[in-house]
Amino acid sequence: MKIGCVTEIKKHEYRVGLTPQCVAAYVLRGHSVTIQAGAGAETGFPDEEYVKAGARIETEAAKVFAGCDMIVKVKEPQPSEYPLLREGQILFTYLHLAADESQTRALLDRKIIGIAYETIRYDDGTLPCLKPMSEIAGRLSIQEGAKYLERPFGGRGVLLGGVPGVPRGKVAILGGGVVGMNAAKMAVGLGADVTVLDVNANRLAYIDDIFRGSVATLYSTEGNIRSILPQLDLLIGAVLIPGARAPRLIRKDHLKLMKKRSVIVDVAVDQGGCVETTRPTTHDDPVFEVDGIVHYCVANMPGAVALTSTIALTSSTLYYGLKIADKGAEAACRNHADLKRGLNVYKGKCTCAEVGSAFALACVDPDTVL
Ligand SMILES: NC(=O)c1ccc[n+]([C@@H]2O[C@H](COP(=O)([O-])OP(=O)(O)OC[C@H]3O[C@@H](n4cnc5c(N)ncnc54)[C@H](O)[C@@H]3O)[C@@H](O)[C@H]2O)c1
Repeated sequence: MKIGCVTEIKKHEYRVGLTPQCVAAYVLRGHSVTIQAGAGAETGFPDEEYVKAGARIETEAAKVFAGCDMIVKVKEPQPSEYPLLREGQILFTYLHLAADESQTRALLDRKIIGIAYETIRYDDGTLPCLKPMSEIAGRLSIQEGAKYLERPFGGRGVLLGGVPGVPRGKVAILGGGVVGMNAAKMAVGLGADVTVLDVNANRLAYIDDIFRGSVATLYSTEGNIRSILPQLDLLIGAVLIPGARAPRLIRKDHLKLMKKRSVIVDVAVDQGGCVETTRPTTHDDPVFEVDGIVHYCVANMPGAVALTSTIALTSSTLYYGLKIADKGAEAACRNHADLKRGLNVYKGKCTCAEVGSAFALACVDPDTVL
């Protein structure tokens, strides 16, 4: 199969869909790979490394789209890329179609085969191509929180680990899922005093076992949230209710309970945020203040660590990309139920129930088209 990878053109997207190692893996199996010149430059992969791995370099994105059977990307195509997509071409990337009607209609019009990273799902419900980004955002949330606690960045001037004779910084994490666990690991590593709140008793028991007493656990109730807020230096929002807007667990009137210049990192901002005063920010201008509390609400946190994120993402997507390249999209989806759940659009038909119901579109069972 002819595989292509273009430079990401979405603002502040520095990741790239294929690393030189991925190229080598495709080439080893007899496929050919074309990379747009400079596609990996922002991440730290110069064209020469791709060439060494066996890729061909093409200067124009249009020529990559025109000459390849499968395009591997990171973000959804931008409107200027829609006309470049060809009927029957495979697009393998994050799509997030259920939140974007105009893109959904454009991809249906172009009659492509769209396989979305974010809906590839194991039988147990876990999302192998989304999990690495939650792991990164969770770990980064503490790094960013620690930075904005520094006085020159607007915070209270607290060192999370304290020093002998001085209390450690106090961190609470709302939601003990993938983001929450990874945040807890980093916070404990820095020596902070950490509490995780969740509504899932099994999750709290698991965290209690894993951290062997170095993390306190609390049921996430209004009463417990109110009682912990006055003690905090750093609050991490890491709640998720699948398919729904994040619940607003911290309201504006709660901010009065917090210490001045304490920091909130609302990682759940991409689902609307679990803090009422959250609004999405960018890496250019990541923080703002409300009622004396510093808010960090960057919606694509992994973009800040593009190299780590690219390696983590491509390590998960390569497995599926190789299946598609070796067998073709249809057979690969037929043989792998997890990949089949990633099929969102197929040659003009919507094949993902969530996307269909979001825009009242007729939707077909993937088995009828594969
Ligand atoms: N900003 C970013 O760059 C970025 C990156 C990755 C993930 N995210 C977001 O981070 C959020 C968390 O993702 P995840 O992968 O950890 O999800 P997850 O499903 O692994 O964990 C969510 C946890 O929230 C808990 N929860 C649900 N309701 C709760 C409540 N009322 N109080 C406390 N806990 C509650 C669940 O029981 C679960 O343990 C999601 O919104 C995700 O989209 C953002």
